[in-house]
Amino acid sequence: MRHTKVKDLLSSTTTLHEVNVKGWVRTFRNNQFIALNDGSTINNIQCVVDFENIPEETLKRITTGAAVSVTGTLAESKGAGQKYEIQVSQLEILGDSDPEKFPMQPKKHSLEFLRENAHLRVRTNTFGAIMRVRSVLSFAVHSYFQQKGFVYVNTPIITGADAEGAGEMFQVTSLPIENLPKNEEGNIDYKKDFFGKHTNLTVSGQLEGETFAMALGQIYTFGPTFRAENSNTSRHLAEFWMIEPEVAFNDLDANMDLAEDFIQYVIKYAMDKCPDDLKFLESRLLEEEKSKPQAERSEMSLLEKLNFVLENNFKRVSYTEAIDILRDSTPNKKKKFQYIINEWGADLQSEHERYLVEKHFKCPVILFDYPAKIKAFYMRLNEDGKTVRAMDILFPGIGEIVGGSQREERFDVLVEKMKVLGIDEEELWWYLDTRRFGSAVHSGFGLGFERLVLFVTGMTNIRDVIPFPRTPGNAEF
Ligand code: 4AD
Ligand code: MG
Repeated sequence: MRHTKVKDLLSSTTTLHEVNVKGWVRTFRNNQFIALNDGSTINNIQCVVDFENIPEETLKRITTGAAVSVTGTLAESKGAGQKYEIQVSQLEILGDSDPEKFPMQPKKHSLEFLRENAHLRVRTNTFGAIMRVRSVLSFAVHSYFQQKGFVYVNTPIITGADAEGAGEMFQVTSLPIENLPKNEEGNIDYKKDFFGKHTNLTVSGQLEGETFAMALGQIYTFGPTFRAENSNTSRHLAEFWMIEPEVAFNDLDANMDLAEDFIQYVIKYAMDKCPDDLKFLESRLLEEEKSKPQAERSEMSLLEKLNFVLENNFKRVSYTEAIDILRDSTPNKKKKFQYIINEWGADLQSEHERYLVEKHFKCPVILFDYPAKIKAFYMRLNEDGKTVRAMDILFPGIGEIVGGSQREERFDVLVEKMKVLGIDEEELWWYLDTRRFGSAVHSGFGLGFERLVLFVTGMTNIRDVIPFPRTPGNAEF
Protein backbone atom coordinates (compact mmCIF):
# COMPACT_ATOMS: atom_id res chain seq x y z
CA MET A 1 0.00 0.00 0.00
CA ARG A 2 1.36 3.41 -0.94
CA HIS A 3 1.61 5.90 1.86
CA THR A 4 -0.49 9.07 1.87
CA LYS A 5 0.78 12.47 2.96
CA VAL A 6 -0.58 13.78 6.25
CA LYS A 7 -1.68 16.93 4.46
CA ASP A 8 -3.86 14.94 2.09
CA LEU A 9 -5.32 12.83 4.89
CA LEU A 10 -6.30 15.91 6.86
CA SER A 11 -8.13 17.36 3.88
CA SER A 12 -9.77 14.05 3.03
CA THR A 13 -13.50 14.10 2.26
CA THR A 14 -14.16 10.47 3.09
CA THR A 15 -13.32 8.32 6.11
CA LEU A 16 -13.32 4.71 7.26
CA HIS A 17 -10.93 3.49 4.60
CA GLU A 18 -7.53 1.99 5.25
CA VAL A 19 -4.54 4.29 4.92
CA ASN A 20 -0.81 4.19 5.45
CA VAL A 21 1.33 7.13 6.57
CA LYS A 22 5.03 7.47 7.16
CA GLY A 23 6.59 10.16 9.27
CA TRP A 24 8.37 11.09 12.47
CA VAL A 25 6.91 10.84 15.95
CA ARG A 26 6.54 14.24 17.57
CA THR A 27 5.04 12.96 20.82
CA PHE A 28 3.62 9.74 22.22
CA ARG A 29 1.14 10.26 25.05
CA ASN A 30 -0.34 7.72 27.46
CA ASN A 31 1.11 4.82 25.49
CA GLN A 32 -1.77 5.47 23.11
CA PHE A 33 -1.67 8.70 21.09
CA ILE A 34 1.05 9.36 18.53
CA ALA A 35 1.32 12.85 17.05
CA LEU A 36 2.86 12.06 13.66
CA ASN A 37 4.37 14.63 11.30
CA ASP A 38 5.72 14.03 7.80
CA GLY A 39 6.65 17.58 6.82
CA SER A 40 3.82 17.97 4.30
CA THR A 41 2.00 20.32 6.70
CA ILE A 42 2.48 21.96 10.06
CA ASN A 43 -0.34 19.77 11.38
CA ASN A 44 0.27 16.36 12.87
CA ILE A 45 -2.06 13.45 12.44
CA GLN A 46 -3.09 11.70 15.62
CA CYS A 47 -2.57 7.96 15.46
CA VAL A 48 -4.41 6.00 18.11
CA VAL A 49 -2.64 2.83 19.12
CA ASP A 50 -4.53 -0.07 20.58
CA PHE A 51 -1.91 -1.70 22.78
CA GLU A 52 -3.54 -5.07 22.35
CA ASN A 53 -2.66 -4.91 18.65
CA ILE A 54 0.93 -3.77 18.99
CA PRO A 55 3.63 -5.84 20.71
CA GLU A 56 5.05 -4.41 23.92
CA GLU A 57 8.54 -4.32 22.35
CA THR A 58 7.33 -2.10 19.50
CA LEU A 59 5.42 0.24 21.83
CA LYS A 60 8.66 0.99 23.69
CA ARG A 61 10.31 2.06 20.48
CA ILE A 62 7.68 4.71 19.67
CA THR A 63 9.67 7.68 20.90
CA THR A 64 10.00 11.33 19.88
CA GLY A 65 12.05 11.50 16.69
CA ALA A 66 11.55 7.90 15.56
CA ALA A 67 10.51 7.23 11.96
CA VAL A 68 7.44 5.03 11.73
CA SER A 69 5.03 3.58 9.21
CA VAL A 70 1.45 3.45 10.40
CA THR A 71 -1.41 1.56 8.81
CA GLY A 72 -4.99 1.86 9.99
CA THR A 73 -8.43 3.31 9.48
CA LEU A 74 -8.96 7.00 8.91
CA ALA A 75 -11.76 8.06 11.24
CA GLU A 76 -13.37 11.18 12.60
CA SER A 77 -11.62 12.02 15.82
CA LYS A 78 -13.44 12.02 19.11
CA GLY A 79 -10.68 14.04 20.71
CA ALA A 80 -10.52 17.82 20.66
CA GLY A 81 -8.16 19.66 18.33
CA GLN A 82 -8.26 17.46 15.28
CA LYS A 83 -10.82 16.44 12.72
CA TYR A 84 -9.38 13.05 11.84
CA GLU A 85 -7.26 10.39 13.42
CA ILE A 86 -5.91 7.00 12.39
CA GLN A 87 -7.01 3.96 14.35
CA VAL A 88 -3.83 1.97 14.05
CA SER A 89 -3.90 -1.68 13.08
CA GLN A 90 -0.21 -2.08 12.18
CA LEU A 91 2.83 -0.12 13.17
CA GLU A 92 6.36 -0.56 11.91
CA ILE A 93 9.39 1.20 13.36
CA LEU A 94 11.43 2.38 10.37
CA GLY A 95 14.16 4.11 12.35
CA ASP A 96 14.63 4.25 16.11
CA SER A 97 15.48 7.42 17.93
CA ASP A 98 17.21 7.56 21.27
CA PRO A 99 14.74 9.46 23.46
CA GLU A 100 17.49 10.49 25.89
CA LYS A 101 19.81 11.85 23.24
CA PHE A 102 17.47 13.26 20.58
CA PRO A 103 18.02 17.05 20.80
CA MET A 104 14.56 18.06 19.54
CA GLN A 105 12.62 17.26 22.67
CA PRO A 106 8.93 18.19 22.65
CA LYS A 107 9.46 21.42 24.58
CA LYS A 108 10.42 25.00 23.81
CA HIS A 109 14.02 25.39 22.63
CA SER A 110 15.87 28.67 22.22
CA LEU A 111 16.58 29.81 18.67
CA GLU A 112 20.31 29.79 19.53
CA PHE A 113 20.15 26.13 20.53
CA LEU A 114 18.23 25.34 17.36
CA ARG A 115 20.86 27.12 15.23
CA GLU A 116 23.49 24.81 16.68
CA ASN A 117 21.30 21.93 15.54
CA ALA A 118 20.39 23.27 12.13
CA HIS A 119 20.28 19.74 10.72
CA LEU A 120 17.49 18.80 13.12
CA ARG A 121 15.73 22.12 13.75
CA VAL A 122 13.73 21.63 10.57
CA ARG A 123 11.88 18.90 12.48
CA THR A 124 10.29 21.56 14.68
CA ASN A 125 7.02 23.33 13.89
CA THR A 126 8.71 26.71 13.57
CA PHE A 127 11.42 25.65 11.14
CA GLY A 128 9.15 23.35 9.16
CA ALA A 129 6.83 26.32 8.64
CA ILE A 130 9.67 28.72 7.72
CA MET A 131 11.17 26.34 5.19
CA ARG A 132 7.83 25.60 3.52
CA VAL A 133 7.13 29.35 3.28
CA ARG A 134 10.63 29.91 1.88
CA SER A 135 10.03 27.27 -0.79
CA VAL A 136 6.68 28.76 -1.78
CA LEU A 137 8.18 32.25 -1.92
CA SER A 138 10.92 31.12 -4.26
CA PHE A 139 8.36 29.55 -6.55
CA ALA A 140 6.37 32.82 -6.39
CA VAL A 141 9.44 34.70 -7.61
CA HIS A 142 9.62 32.56 -10.73
CA SER A 143 5.86 32.64 -11.17
CA TYR A 144 5.78 36.44 -11.13
CA PHE A 145 8.57 36.98 -13.64
CA GLN A 146 7.63 34.09 -15.91
CA GLN A 147 4.05 35.35 -16.16
CA LYS A 148 5.41 38.70 -17.24
CA GLY A 149 7.67 37.19 -19.88
CA PHE A 150 11.00 37.80 -18.12
CA VAL A 151 13.84 35.46 -19.06
CA TYR A 152 15.55 33.65 -16.16
CA VAL A 153 19.33 34.04 -16.45
CA ASN A 154 21.91 32.06 -14.49
CA THR A 155 24.75 34.49 -14.06
CA PRO A 156 28.14 33.08 -13.04
CA ILE A 157 28.98 32.35 -9.43
CA ILE A 158 32.70 32.59 -10.06
CA THR A 159 33.60 35.98 -11.44
CA GLY A 160 36.71 37.65 -12.74
CA ALA A 161 35.22 41.11 -12.22
CA ASP A 162 35.70 42.46 -8.73
CA ALA A 163 34.81 46.01 -9.59
CA GLU A 164 31.17 46.21 -8.63
CA GLY A 165 31.95 47.42 -5.19
CA ALA A 166 28.90 45.79 -3.62
CA GLY A 167 31.02 44.24 -0.89
CA GLU A 168 34.14 42.40 0.18
CA MET A 169 34.70 39.24 -1.86
CA PHE A 170 35.75 35.65 -1.25
CA GLN A 171 38.65 34.66 -3.43
CA VAL A 172 38.45 31.48 -5.52
CA THR A 173 41.73 29.78 -6.27
CA SER A 174 43.25 26.38 -6.91
CA LEU A 175 46.77 27.63 -6.19
CA PRO A 176 48.55 25.88 -3.33
CA ILE A 177 48.25 28.50 -0.60
CA GLU A 178 51.27 27.20 1.33
CA ASN A 179 53.46 27.66 -1.71
CA LEU A 180 52.16 30.39 -3.99
CA PRO A 181 53.80 30.86 -7.39
CA LYS A 182 55.36 34.31 -7.76
CA ASN A 183 55.99 36.35 -10.89
CA GLU A 184 59.12 38.36 -11.67
CA GLU A 185 57.91 41.28 -9.58
CA GLY A 186 57.48 38.97 -6.60
CA ASN A 187 53.67 39.11 -6.65
CA ILE A 188 51.36 36.11 -6.74
CA ASP A 189 51.28 34.80 -10.30
CA TYR A 190 47.58 34.44 -11.02
CA LYS A 191 48.42 33.41 -14.58
CA LYS A 192 49.18 30.05 -12.99
CA ASP A 193 45.80 29.95 -11.23
CA PHE A 194 42.93 27.81 -12.49
CA PHE A 195 41.34 30.51 -14.65
CA GLY A 196 44.61 32.22 -15.51
CA LYS A 197 43.48 35.24 -13.52
CA HIS A 198 42.38 36.40 -10.10
CA THR A 199 38.79 35.26 -9.40
CA ASN A 200 36.17 35.65 -6.68
CA LEU A 201 32.72 34.46 -5.70
CA THR A 202 30.15 36.88 -7.07
CA VAL A 203 28.61 39.66 -4.96
CA SER A 204 25.88 40.26 -7.55
CA GLY A 205 24.81 39.07 -11.00
CA GLN A 206 23.83 42.55 -12.05
CA LEU A 207 26.59 43.44 -14.48
CA GLU A 208 26.19 40.20 -16.43
CA GLY A 209 22.41 40.57 -16.09
CA GLU A 210 22.58 43.98 -17.76
CA THR A 211 24.21 42.48 -20.85
CA PHE A 212 21.31 40.04 -21.14
CA ALA A 213 18.67 42.74 -20.60
CA MET A 214 20.21 44.61 -23.52
CA ALA A 215 19.26 41.70 -25.75
CA LEU A 216 16.31 39.92 -24.14
CA GLY A 217 14.59 43.03 -22.80
CA GLN A 218 13.44 41.76 -19.42
CA ILE A 219 15.50 39.32 -17.40
CA TYR A 220 15.90 38.18 -13.81
CA THR A 221 18.47 36.25 -11.89
CA PHE A 222 17.87 34.28 -8.71
CA GLY A 223 20.93 32.73 -7.21
CA PRO A 224 23.45 32.56 -4.41
CA THR A 225 25.51 35.65 -3.66
CA PHE A 226 28.57 35.96 -1.44
CA ARG A 227 29.90 38.80 0.68
CA ALA A 228 32.91 38.55 2.94
CA GLU A 229 32.11 41.54 5.13
CA ASN A 230 32.63 40.89 8.77
CA SER A 231 29.08 42.00 9.57
CA ASN A 232 27.85 39.93 12.44
CA THR A 233 24.30 41.26 12.42
CA SER A 234 20.83 39.75 12.36
CA ARG A 235 20.42 41.04 8.77
CA HIS A 236 23.64 39.85 7.10
CA LEU A 237 24.77 36.52 5.74
CA ALA A 238 28.05 35.72 3.99
CA GLU A 239 26.06 33.54 1.57
CA PHE A 240 22.58 34.70 0.65
CA TRP A 241 20.19 34.47 -2.27
CA MET A 242 19.39 37.47 -4.38
CA ILE A 243 16.80 38.16 -7.06
CA GLU A 244 17.93 40.69 -9.64
CA PRO A 245 15.56 41.78 -12.40
CA GLU A 246 16.91 44.05 -15.10
CA VAL A 247 14.69 45.75 -17.69
CA ALA A 248 15.64 47.57 -20.87
CA PHE A 249 13.84 50.91 -21.43
CA ASN A 250 12.63 51.15 -17.80
CA ASP A 251 13.42 54.38 -15.99
CA LEU A 252 13.59 54.68 -12.21
CA ASP A 253 9.84 55.22 -11.79
CA ALA A 254 9.07 52.07 -13.76
CA ASN A 255 11.71 50.28 -11.69
CA MET A 256 9.95 51.29 -8.47
CA ASP A 257 6.58 50.21 -9.87
CA LEU A 258 8.04 46.82 -10.77
CA ALA A 259 9.63 46.30 -7.36
CA GLU A 260 6.46 47.23 -5.51
CA ASP A 261 4.21 45.06 -7.67
CA PHE A 262 6.64 42.14 -7.42
CA ILE A 263 6.91 42.28 -3.63
CA GLN A 264 3.15 42.53 -3.22
CA TYR A 265 2.64 39.59 -5.57
CA VAL A 266 5.01 37.23 -3.76
CA ILE A 267 3.63 38.12 -0.34
CA LYS A 268 0.07 37.55 -1.54
CA TYR A 269 1.16 34.26 -3.09
CA ALA A 270 2.61 33.03 0.20
CA MET A 271 -0.51 34.12 2.09
CA ASP A 272 -2.70 32.19 -0.34
CA LYS A 273 -0.58 29.03 -0.33
CA CYS A 274 0.64 28.86 3.27
CA PRO A 275 -2.30 29.84 5.49
CA ASP A 276 -1.58 27.21 8.18
CA ASP A 277 2.14 27.92 8.38
CA LEU A 278 1.60 31.68 8.54
CA LYS A 279 -1.08 31.32 11.18
CA PHE A 280 1.34 29.26 13.23
CA LEU A 281 4.16 31.78 12.72
CA GLU A 282 1.81 34.57 13.71
CA SER A 283 1.03 32.90 17.03
CA ARG A 284 4.73 32.15 17.56
CA LEU A 285 5.51 35.84 17.09
CA LEU A 286 2.75 36.92 19.46
CA GLU A 287 4.14 34.56 22.07
CA GLU A 288 7.69 35.89 21.52
CA GLU A 289 6.53 39.49 21.78
CA LYS A 290 4.96 38.84 25.17
CA SER A 291 8.45 38.73 26.64
CA LYS A 292 9.23 42.22 25.29
CA PRO A 293 8.40 45.52 26.96
CA GLN A 294 5.10 46.97 25.73
CA ALA A 295 6.78 49.81 23.83
CA GLU A 296 8.80 47.40 21.70
CA ARG A 297 5.89 45.19 20.76
CA SER A 298 4.56 45.43 17.26
CA GLU A 299 1.21 47.16 16.89
CA MET A 300 0.18 44.68 14.22
CA SER A 301 0.08 40.91 14.10
CA LEU A 302 2.05 39.12 11.39
CA LEU A 303 -0.90 38.73 9.04
CA GLU A 304 -1.98 42.33 9.64
CA LYS A 305 1.53 43.45 8.69
CA LEU A 306 1.48 41.38 5.52
CA ASN A 307 -1.97 42.68 4.59
CA PHE A 308 -0.84 46.21 5.27
CA VAL A 309 1.94 45.85 2.70
CA LEU A 310 -0.53 44.52 0.15
CA GLU A 311 -3.07 47.25 0.71
CA ASN A 312 -0.86 50.33 0.94
CA ASN A 313 1.37 51.96 -1.62
CA PHE A 314 5.00 52.22 -0.62
CA LYS A 315 5.80 55.81 0.27
CA ARG A 316 8.30 57.33 -2.21
CA VAL A 317 10.63 59.84 -0.61
CA SER A 318 13.81 61.47 -1.93
CA TYR A 319 17.03 61.09 0.02
CA THR A 320 17.07 64.87 0.51
CA GLU A 321 13.62 64.84 2.13
CA ALA A 322 14.64 61.88 4.27
CA ILE A 323 17.71 63.74 5.54
CA ASP A 324 15.54 66.70 6.53
CA ILE A 325 13.18 64.40 8.42
CA LEU A 326 16.04 62.62 10.16
CA ARG A 327 17.87 65.82 11.07
CA ASP A 328 14.77 67.16 12.78
CA SER A 329 13.84 63.86 14.43
CA THR A 330 13.76 63.44 18.21
CA PRO A 331 16.36 60.63 18.36
CA ASN A 332 18.74 62.77 16.31
CA LYS A 333 18.26 65.85 18.49
CA LYS A 334 18.53 63.81 21.68
CA LYS A 335 21.60 62.04 20.27
CA LYS A 336 19.89 58.67 20.54
CA PHE A 337 21.14 57.60 17.12
CA GLN A 338 24.55 55.99 17.15
CA TYR A 339 25.34 57.96 13.99
CA ILE A 340 24.03 61.53 14.25
CA ILE A 341 22.76 63.01 11.00
CA ASN A 342 24.31 66.44 10.58
CA GLU A 343 24.43 67.07 6.90
CA TRP A 344 23.33 66.12 3.45
CA GLY A 345 25.55 63.39 2.06
CA ALA A 346 25.58 61.20 5.15
CA ASP A 347 25.19 57.48 4.51
CA LEU A 348 22.06 56.10 6.12
CA GLN A 349 22.52 53.40 8.73
CA SER A 350 19.93 50.79 9.54
CA GLU A 351 18.84 52.80 12.63
CA HIS A 352 17.91 55.71 10.33
CA GLU A 353 16.16 53.50 7.82
CA ARG A 354 14.13 51.87 10.55
CA TYR A 355 13.23 55.21 12.10
CA LEU A 356 11.83 56.41 8.77
CA VAL A 357 9.81 53.24 8.21
CA GLU A 358 8.73 52.32 11.71
CA LYS A 359 8.35 55.66 13.45
CA HIS A 360 7.90 58.36 10.84
CA PHE A 361 6.05 56.96 7.84
CA LYS A 362 4.82 53.71 9.41
CA CYS A 363 4.78 51.99 6.03
CA PRO A 364 7.28 50.61 3.51
CA VAL A 365 9.34 53.43 2.03
CA ILE A 366 11.21 53.80 -1.27
CA LEU A 367 14.08 56.25 -0.90
CA PHE A 368 15.47 57.59 -4.16
CA ASP A 369 18.00 60.03 -5.62
CA TYR A 370 20.88 59.36 -3.25
CA PRO A 371 24.16 61.29 -3.27
CA ALA A 372 26.41 59.86 -6.00
CA LYS A 373 29.26 59.59 -3.48
CA ILE A 374 27.61 56.87 -1.38
CA LYS A 375 26.35 54.73 -4.28
CA ALA A 376 27.86 52.43 -6.93
CA PHE A 377 29.56 53.65 -10.09
CA TYR A 378 26.92 52.37 -12.50
CA MET A 379 24.00 54.48 -11.25
CA ARG A 380 22.68 57.20 -13.53
CA LEU A 381 23.78 60.71 -12.68
CA ASN A 382 20.97 63.25 -12.28
CA GLU A 383 20.97 66.70 -13.88
CA ASP A 384 22.06 68.23 -10.55
CA GLY A 385 25.42 66.49 -10.98
CA LYS A 386 25.47 65.28 -7.38
CA THR A 387 22.68 62.71 -7.00
CA VAL A 388 22.09 59.42 -8.78
CA ARG A 389 18.93 57.58 -9.76
CA ALA A 390 19.24 55.05 -6.95
CA MET A 391 16.42 53.53 -4.96
CA ASP A 392 16.37 51.53 -1.76
CA ILE A 393 13.21 49.93 -0.41
CA LEU A 394 12.98 49.97 3.36
CA PHE A 395 10.74 47.60 5.32
CA PRO A 396 9.57 47.63 8.93
CA GLY A 397 11.67 45.41 11.16
CA ILE A 398 14.14 44.80 8.33
CA GLY A 399 15.51 48.08 7.00
CA GLU A 400 16.82 47.76 3.43
CA ILE A 401 15.18 44.92 1.55
CA VAL A 402 15.85 46.13 -2.01
CA GLY A 403 18.67 48.12 -3.58
CA GLY A 404 18.43 49.22 -7.19
CA SER A 405 18.84 51.99 -9.71
CA GLN A 406 18.44 53.33 -13.19
CA ARG A 407 21.77 52.56 -14.83
CA GLU A 408 24.16 55.07 -16.39
CA GLU A 409 23.58 54.36 -20.07
CA ARG A 410 25.81 57.18 -21.40
CA PHE A 411 29.22 55.77 -22.32
CA ASP A 412 31.19 58.96 -21.65
CA VAL A 413 29.59 59.69 -18.30
CA LEU A 414 30.12 56.09 -17.19
CA VAL A 415 33.76 56.01 -18.21
CA GLU A 416 34.40 59.34 -16.53
CA LYS A 417 32.89 58.00 -13.32
CA MET A 418 34.98 54.84 -13.48
CA LYS A 419 38.13 56.92 -13.94
CA VAL A 420 37.33 58.98 -10.85
CA LEU A 421 36.75 55.83 -8.80
CA GLY A 422 39.80 54.05 -10.18
CA ILE A 423 37.78 51.22 -11.74
CA ASP A 424 39.70 49.43 -14.46
CA GLU A 425 38.06 50.01 -17.86
CA GLU A 426 39.91 47.08 -19.36
CA GLU A 427 38.61 44.67 -16.80
CA LEU A 428 35.03 45.74 -17.56
CA TRP A 429 35.48 45.95 -21.34
CA TRP A 430 32.51 43.67 -21.89
CA TYR A 431 30.28 45.75 -19.59
CA LEU A 432 31.25 48.92 -21.43
CA ASP A 433 30.32 47.22 -24.73
CA THR A 434 26.66 47.44 -23.69
CA ARG A 435 27.13 51.21 -23.76
CA ARG A 436 29.09 51.11 -27.02
CA PHE A 437 26.57 49.10 -29.02
CA GLY A 438 22.91 50.06 -28.82
CA SER A 439 22.90 51.54 -25.34
CA ALA A 440 19.52 52.50 -23.88
CA VAL A 441 17.88 53.53 -20.65
CA HIS A 442 17.56 50.51 -18.36
CA SER A 443 16.99 49.78 -14.71
CA GLY A 444 16.99 46.97 -12.20
CA PHE A 445 17.20 46.07 -8.56
CA GLY A 446 18.29 43.38 -6.15
CA LEU A 447 16.01 41.87 -3.54
CA GLY A 448 17.67 39.99 -0.70
CA PHE A 449 15.64 36.79 -0.59
CA GLU A 450 16.31 36.02 3.08
CA ARG A 451 15.25 39.52 4.09
CA LEU A 452 11.97 38.89 2.30
CA VAL A 453 11.58 35.54 4.08
CA LEU A 454 12.32 37.31 7.38
CA PHE A 455 9.53 39.76 6.74
CA VAL A 456 6.97 37.17 5.65
CA THR A 457 7.69 34.73 8.50
CA GLY A 458 8.03 37.39 11.20
CA MET A 459 11.38 35.96 12.27
CA THR A 460 13.97 38.44 13.50
CA ASN A 461 17.32 36.80 12.77
CA ILE A 462 18.36 36.09 9.18
CA ARG A 463 20.14 32.91 10.37
CA ASP A 464 16.72 31.43 11.02
CA VAL A 465 15.34 31.72 7.49
CA ILE A 466 18.06 29.95 5.49
CA PRO A 467 18.66 26.20 5.93
CA PHE A 468 22.34 26.37 6.88
CA PRO A 469 23.54 29.93 7.52
CA ARG A 470 27.04 31.04 6.59
CA THR A 471 28.25 33.86 8.82
CA PRO A 472 31.66 34.98 10.12
CA GLY A 473 33.13 32.09 12.07
CA ASN A 474 30.37 29.67 11.12
CA ALA A 475 30.23 27.20 8.24
CA GLU A 476 29.02 24.10 10.13
CA PHE A 477 26.92 21.57 8.22
O1 4AD B 1 22.03 46.78 -2.21
P1 4AD B 1 22.81 45.64 -2.80
O2 4AD B 1 24.24 45.53 -2.44
O3 4AD B 1 22.62 45.78 -4.36
C1 4AD B 1 23.24 45.07 -5.34
O4 4AD B 1 23.95 44.12 -5.15
C2 4AD B 1 22.84 45.50 -6.71
N1 4AD B 1 23.79 44.89 -7.65
C3 4AD B 1 21.42 45.06 -6.98
C4 4AD B 1 20.92 45.45 -8.35
O5 4AD B 1 20.69 46.61 -8.58
N2 4AD B 1 20.77 44.50 -9.24
O6 4AD B 1 22.08 44.28 -2.44
C5 4AD B 1 20.74 44.07 -2.78
C6 4AD B 1 19.98 43.47 -1.62
C7 4AD B 1 19.94 44.34 -0.38
O7 4AD B 1 18.93 45.32 -0.46
C8 4AD B 1 19.64 43.31 0.70
O8 4AD B 1 18.26 42.99 0.72
C9 4AD B 1 20.38 42.10 0.20
O9 4AD B 1 20.59 42.26 -1.19
N3 4AD B 1 21.68 41.93 0.87
C10 4AD B 1 21.94 41.00 1.80
N4 4AD B 1 21.17 40.06 2.36
C11 4AD B 1 21.74 39.24 3.27
N5 4AD B 1 23.03 39.34 3.66
C12 4AD B 1 23.85 40.27 3.13
N6 4AD B 1 25.14 40.33 3.49
C13 4AD B 1 23.30 41.16 2.16
N7 4AD B 1 23.82 42.18 1.44
C14 4AD B 1 22.81 42.63 0.66
MG1 MG C 1 22.23 48.32 -0.89
